[in-house]
Amino acid sequence: MSYFTCKSVPLNAVYVVVGGLTGLGFETVKFIAENGGGYIAILSRKIPSNEKQEEMKALQQQYKGSKVVFVQCDVTLTSDVEKAFQSIVNIFAGSPIKGVFQSAVVLHDGHLEVLNLADFQKVLNPKVAGTLNLHWATRRQELDYFVCYSSVTSFLGNSTQANYAAANSFLDVFCLYRRNRGLSGQSINWGALNLGVPLKPPLPQAEQAQFPQPLLIALVLQPPSILMAFC
Ligand SMILES: NC(=O)c1ccc[n+]([C@@H]2O[C@H](COP(=O)([O-])OP(=O)(O)OC[C@H]3O[C@@H](n4cnc5c(N)ncnc54)[C@H](OP(=O)(O)O)[C@@H]3O)[C@@H](O)[C@H]2O)c1
Repeated sequence: MSYFTCKSVPLNAVYVVVGGLTGLGFETVKFIAENGGGYIAILSRKIPSNEKQEEMKALQQQYKGSKVVFVQCDVTLTSDVEKAFQSIVNIFAGSPIKGVFQSAVVLHDGHLEVLNLADFQKVLNPKVAGTLNLHWATRRQELDYFVCYSSVTSFLGNSTQANYAAANSFLDVFCLYRRNRGLSGQSINWGALNLGVPLKPPLPQAEQAQFPQPLLIALVLQPPSILMAFC
């Protein structure tokens, strides 16, 4: 039985990937499709580029029976999330939502003394408000997976990422809270990967030159390898 085949429900299940158009989110979409996940709904604020739409179509052709749809949604807005889940229920009528993968992130790095409240809110919102919205929107679903993408920064810290560390710590603790309530919940503390946020904006040429190549190779891994994952 495939990892994404639902044991209790014989119908195709639906998996929601927030932030699923790019980086680790899109790797997750591919992973779910490859592993028989069937129906996948991608949520993000920007609509997919033509190139990304082609990639989504190609996935559906490669994995027969799979269906990958996009639903525009700002996960920080409760009304957006509720509407998005209603659309998903309509699109995949009769199929249960069995998994949520929360991959949304916004960065705003800076030393603690220069970060203001707005810089914290910008980074905390997608992970804190977004995750709470997903929790509430799925309260009537029996989820097999509620997976949040956190970072090693949550417990190792980083001199310019206090806001990001706090946002990820919330994910770790919130998943524990869900599990204590008998709900699915898994926070994954990813290490640095060579996809998604670390690649944008690219480091200025001067900084790239200063960064020792062996360190880059040691720290930044090919997707989807895991440097550290504390489950
Ligand atoms: N890449 C790494 O090395 C790494 C390491 C550790 C942890 N992680 C974690 O892995 C996850 C994915 O990171 P990534 O590197 O793949 O980043 P990414 O490529 O920048 O993907 C983040 C996605 O989040 C979406 N997003 C942001 N705000 C949103 C909102 N309000 N509502 C809906 N979608 C929103 C973005 O799409 P829109 O802008 O269109 O909304 C984007 O597609 C994050 O949780 C990150 O903390 C990544």
